[in-house]
Amino acid sequence: MTTDFAATRALFHLPAGVIYLDGNSLGPLPRAAAERVRGCVEDEWGDMLITAWNRAGWMDKPRALGDRIGRLIGAEPGTVVLGDTLSIKVYQALASALDLRPDRRVILSDTGNFPSDLYMADGLVRTLGQGYELRTVAPEAVEAAITPDLAVLMLTEVDYRTGRRHDMKRLIAKAHAAGALVVWDLAHSAGAVEVDLAGSGADFAVGCTYKYLNSGPGGPAFIYIAPRLAAQVRPALSGWLGHEAPFAFDLDYRPGAGIERMRVGTPPILQMAALEASMDIWDRVDMADVRARSIELTEAFIAAVEAACPALTLASPRDPAARGSQVSFRHPEGYAIMQALIAHGVIGDFRAPDILRFGFTPLYTSTADVTGAVAILKRIMDEGLWDQPAFKARAKVT
Ligand SMILES: Cc1ncc(COP(=O)(O)O)c(C=O)c1O
Repeated sequence: MTTDFAATRALFHLPAGVIYLDGNSLGPLPRAAAERVRGCVEDEWGDMLITAWNRAGWMDKPRALGDRIGRLIGAEPGTVVLGDTLSIKVYQALASALDLRPDRRVILSDTGNFPSDLYMADGLVRTLGQGYELRTVAPEAVEAAITPDLAVLMLTEVDYRTGRRHDMKRLIAKAHAAGALVVWDLAHSAGAVEVDLAGSGADFAVGCTYKYLNSGPGGPAFIYIAPRLAAQVRPALSGWLGHEAPFAFDLDYRPGAGIERMRVGTPPILQMAALEASMDIWDRVDMADVRARSIELTEAFIAAVEAACPALTLASPRDPAARGSQVSFRHPEGYAIMQALIAHGVIGDFRAPDILRFGFTPLYTSTADVTGAVAILKRIMDEGLWDQPAFKARAKVT
């Protein structure tokens, strides 16, 4: 291993007394982020005012950061750009892919997909009319459901609930053989598992930066288009910054070069400053090391929880090759158990109806975190500490 995980851990602010197993939902604060954002606020926005778009390179950041993320997901240089939220990027990618298959009407997805992806697809289908259809099947049934009428296969690689991982390369090959394009949501993959977009023959991919990539709450999403397709794409969300010459202020829309056309409007400069602090850490990291360490941590966690807490049932695939970097357990009182865990300093999260979800993020999660978290979980289960009204009252965000 070439990555020094003790060194990367020291670069994050991890509150004392907390074991954080939720970086798959919201990454922690890189220590350098506060200073980076302060510099962006005071030195750039404050002193340079609007000249910072040129002088501080603000306008180029969505592409520059796109390349740094691209390295982690096997994307060719110049194929990834940042902006908007992931839901918007899902819509953009899907609309573009459908437009490239004008004779076909079917989008295939699975019932394990993140609801926002399905909602966006449903909204797009309603807007398009003309017989477009969103078909969903169980995750295990996706491969068999790839039929010659398919326009686009739209999947999230790693299931947000269970951590189950699709076989990207295999499904792309199958979809391409049927004449369809594929859109991948990498929200739970980027920075979590090794992804090889170029090597897998991927068409479109999207993802967020506030989970494993630690850009902070509301950080921008990213989008990838394979270089062989980018020049053919006609963006549905044809905003001015995706125009070939935004500052010509032409009245007709002409798409920008390659991935530039997937930009929409003004990028979130302050969030990108925070993301830069995180990418400075990611630049020191080898994804193969992250994956190896993630498997060690998740295997240790599963073995320890199964030995210590027999009332919890593993909801994630047992085979590490078939799961991402999270582990989920089921229990009918999962919500209350998670609230009790949080009250005792172990932060994970809960996903309805009964999933306790734990994220493993080698940049700052240690073996001692695994041992410590399981000891506290065992005490909560053995002593029934979760069985209190305070832990059963549902908050807005679970
Ligand atoms: C797989 C997946 N897709 C889409 C989204 C929605 O992302 P956003 O809120 O940035 O639009 C999420 C959010 O957690 C997600 O996990």
